[in-house]
Amino acid sequence: KILILDFGSQVSQLIARRVREQQVYCELHPYDVSDEFVREFGADGIILSGGPNSVYEAADWRAPQAVFEAGVPVLGICYGMQTMASQLGGKVESSTTREFGYAEMRAQGHSKLFTDLQDRSNEAGHGLLDVWMSHGDKVTGLPPGFKIIGSNESTPIAAMADEDRGFYGVQFHPEVTHTIKGKEIIGRFVHEICGCGHDWNMPDYIAEAVERIREQVGDEEVILGLSGGVDSSVAAALIHRAIGDQLTCVFVDHGLLRLNEGKMVMEMFAGRLHAKVIHVDASEQFLGHLKGITDPEQKRKIIGREFVEVFQAEAKKLPKAKWLAQGTIYPDVIESGGAKNKKAHTIKSHHNVGGLPETLGLKLLEPLRELFKDEVRELGVALGLPHDMVYRHPFPGPGLGVRILGEVKSEFADLLRRADAIFIDELRASDWYDKTSQAFAVFLPVKSVGVMGDGRTYEYVVALRAVQTQDFMTAHWAELPHSLLGKVSNRIINEVRGINRVVYDISGKPPATIEWE
Ligand code: XMP
Repeated sequence: KILILDFGSQVSQLIARRVREQQVYCELHPYDVSDEFVREFGADGIILSGGPNSVYEAADWRAPQAVFEAGVPVLGICYGMQTMASQLGGKVESSTTREFGYAEMRAQGHSKLFTDLQDRSNEAGHGLLDVWMSHGDKVTGLPPGFKIIGSNESTPIAAMADEDRGFYGVQFHPEVTHTIKGKEIIGRFVHEICGCGHDWNMPDYIAEAVERIREQVGDEEVILGLSGGVDSSVAAALIHRAIGDQLTCVFVDHGLLRLNEGKMVMEMFAGRLHAKVIHVDASEQFLGHLKGITDPEQKRKIIGREFVEVFQAEAKKLPKAKWLAQGTIYPDVIESGGAKNKKAHTIKSHHNVGGLPETLGLKLLEPLRELFKDEVRELGVALGLPHDMVYRHPFPGPGLGVRILGEVKSEFADLLRRADAIFIDELRASDWYDKTSQAFAVFLPVKSVGVMGDGRTYEYVVALRAVQTQDFMTAHWAELPHSLLGKVSNRIINEVRGINRVVYDISGKPPATIEWE
């Protein structure tokens, strides 16, 4: 397994993804873990990520000394290379020009990292690689024992190695797809240099995870809040595979779900998987508490609070349950314990089924804690969940509650559900569903004038939102074809009585957010 130390780069998680793609298990930890941690981790290799600092400005942003004494290969990427150079006796300097974007690098010598890897070769027969650079500082003096293995005009030491010790540094980012041979380079490091096998694969993983859950839980019982979302669904399927009827799923329907969602969840879990599922229809209770409330944050808080209350009441009816299962996934784990420079503003108070309080007095079972989203999806498919469920766009915990602007009313929710279903239907039919990261309709409680047949109409507006994003932190609005938008608009206005106008949201995030509330 590989240990990745995170120096705060935006793309550290990508390094972990690339390593996992090589079927090698890895973990991402903050750079300032202790020497003891590094020794006990027992890595076959260590990767130092990039980061926003300068080695000569931030003297404490160093790799633990144990990294270089563990006797295993180390790969430093960008800042990781610079701190490696500086900690091992080389020299790092800032340069007047920042290098950002594509660069061509010439591979030199015969390093295990690059030999026979090239995008093309120059007249002298040297291999050339297209790489992605993003740095101001650079290594200007090699540490003792190192040689240059990659170079270009602006960065003479673009890659370096001390192959006797298995130490490698690259100034470019092999983890991003812009570095064409990045995948192969990561593969070289983990397989050929560190000697890791292809041990991280789904069938083996399921067998191990099932075993682990059985051991952990013994003959005790588990409850799980099922939301219909990907993470809780896959967690439920996995735990059910492991312990069958010792698992009870509680599906809280707050009345703000998408069209037919409740039915689909019940059909899948109770019907096909024969899991124990308690379906709580709490829509009246939720809508009751939301009556008259228009402030988005207040709405979110009410929905979150009610959810916990309903769940708690159900949990009390199951006194034998000793475990609370949650679909926490690896990015959630990294977020909450990540590099110490990460500080985020609360733009919205998030609610999801993972947010249940500790007062339940239950032990936590989180079988997806080490998986990335796409691994969770792959696992879901391997466990027999339908493709459409597993590859569904994310849906916020407060559901349509944050897509009905202002006061939530059940008549608005009904209109929105139908408009939304038409939009999604047409996206799927035109192959745009998978090309967008999230798409939905938003209900605007304002009326505008229209004309239908010979009559005047005065009805509500629906906005369509479709975005493309990698991480949901920033997003572009999707450039859907006009013909598609036209068709969706026509269908909504014709089929959903009460809506006479459809608009398309063309705001990016930032400055807008993805959801409207
Ligand atoms: P925003 O609107 O902040 O949304 O740009 C970013 C992503 O987060 C989702 N979202 C939520 N997910 N509980 C969730 O589980 C929430 O309370 C919540 N609020 C927003 C949103 O759908 C988008 O994918």
